[in-house]
Amino acid sequence: MGQRQGEKITGSNPVVVAGIDVGSLSAEAVLLKDGRVVTFSIIPTGADSRKAAEKALTAAMESAGLQFDDLAVIVATGYGRISIPFAHKRITEITCHGRGAFYLDPAVRTVIDIGGQDSKVIRLNQQGKVLDFAMNDKCAAGTGRFLEVMATALEVELENLAALSDQAVRAISISSTCTVFAETEVVSLLAGGADRAEIARGLHESIAARTSSLVYRVGLDEAVMMTGGVAKNSAVVKALEEKLQLRIIVPPEPQIAGALGAALLAWEDCCAAGTT
Ligand SMILES: Nc1ncnc2c1ncn2[C@@H]1O[C@H](COP(=O)(O)OP(=O)(O)OP(=O)(O)O)[C@@H](O)[C@H]1O
Ligand SMILES: [Mg+2]
Repeated sequence: MGQRQGEKITGSNPVVVAGIDVGSLSAEAVLLKDGRVVTFSIIPTGADSRKAAEKALTAAMESAGLQFDDLAVIVATGYGRISIPFAHKRITEITCHGRGAFYLDPAVRTVIDIGGQDSKVIRLNQQGKVLDFAMNDKCAAGTGRFLEVMATALEVELENLAALSDQAVRAISISSTCTVFAETEVVSLLAGGADRAEIARGLHESIAARTSSLVYRVGLDEAVMMTGGVAKNSAVVKALEEKLQLRIIVPPEPQIAGALGAALLAWEDCCAAGTT
């Protein structure tokens, strides 16, 4: 297989490394050639983390016309990282999301990653190293899963939840702090004739409130970037911008930040000594 960990690669052939992030809902792979992004993939994780990692990596390799043996180093991150036997190294999501976000914009000092089952806030220093972080992995409220449950209750596609929320002139606040109770609350609000758009706005505001308390736990430092799939929901981003009173940077592909960080760390591990 590829290069062994710690062994520095020399020679004139381009060196390809991979970062894989297997999350609870989506798996991503990013390939770097000589330290630059060549391609990436995003697929649903499904029930088997190992298969998801293989599929994500295969999709990325196929799109770049590369083979498994072309990969010098593979670094895995995400909740499923322990189930990837072909990874040379496993690194935490905190480190990888921090690294990926800092690469995308070196002005970033606070990273907010909201995925399917947890949310994290990471504070970085001027060199992009992790200073501190806070995490909510105990409760689905405040995560992407919460929004998925609520989209179903509101009978709207997840991708259209933000547009629905934008139609509201006010928010109906949701008082339950637990996903299951909040879902019951939404169902009874709907039964009482409440406006769907106003409920959606209330749900986005409740995610923003939960996330902002995580942000204040680590301390807010600008610039702020959002990573993870929930960054694709513009209503969450907007509600959080209003709550924190600042602009949030959302990269074009927020879901790949963790895999990108893993790939950058793979590159640094094998080949970048003295070049970064
Ligand atoms: N197009 C979209 N529009 C709105 N929301 C989206 C979209 N795509 C994904 N999401 C949100 O992103 C969430 C998944 O995020 P992500 O893919 O970062 O999770 P994950 O990395 O698998 O999870 P975790 O990091 O918690 O293990 C979904 O629950 C959903 O709320
Ligand atoms: Mg994730």
